[in-house]
Amino acid sequence: MSKLKLVFATNNKNKLKEVQAMLTNFKIVSLADINCFDDIPETANTLEGNAILKANYITEKFGLNCFADDTGLEVKALNNAPGVYSARYASEKCNSEDNMAKLLNELENIQNRKAQFRTAVALNIEGKQYLFEGVCTGEILKTKKGKDGFGYDPIFKPTGYTKSFAEMEMREKGAISHRGKAIEKLVTFLNSYS
Ligand code: IMP
Repeated sequence: MSKLKLVFATNNKNKLKEVQAMLTNFKIVSLADINCFDDIPETANTLEGNAILKANYITEKFGLNCFADDTGLEVKALNNAPGVYSARYASEKCNSEDNMAKLLNELENIQNRKAQFRTAVALNIEGKQYLFEGVCTGEILKTKKGKDGFGYDPIFKPTGYTKSFAEMEMREKGAISHRGKAIEKLVTFLNSYS
């Protein structure tokens, strides 16, 4: 029997490989695989909204089953900012260093450094939509620690650990991370999908 095809609305090769390895009953393809090089709008003001926008764009334009993810860092003392704006927190055209510098500056005199990463995943399959969420709680460090990972990893220490995300190996981070947990829920759902 041929495998059900599912587009993962990403061009991130690492994310794609990880998910392909977890979902062997499905044919998981990327945006490039379906020749989609569009700048898909991410204009919603929630993570769920953006995941839905991306998944719906592909399903509507290409008529394909699809899932999409969106992640944000929610800092308690900042009313959950930067949240959905995590990628462009410092400015429209900024990098991770700019974003971390801005966040450390905002929290300079603040004692409560609690934060969480949250990932929303939207899945469109055979005419229905499902949402999944993954959360990783922790705190924002006062200075950067570690060289691995990406984004805000050097200043995020997950609860129960003494290391930052940037001091963890990919596998160790993946086992406890927001994205890892959201994808795990998606995988459990899909693996029992018939
Ligand atoms: P995206 O939804 O995966 O594109 O993530 C949005 C932004 O959140 C990125 O630009 C990163 O700055 C940040 N981010 C997402 N996931 C992580 C992570 O696992 N560690 C650190 N930063 C992340």
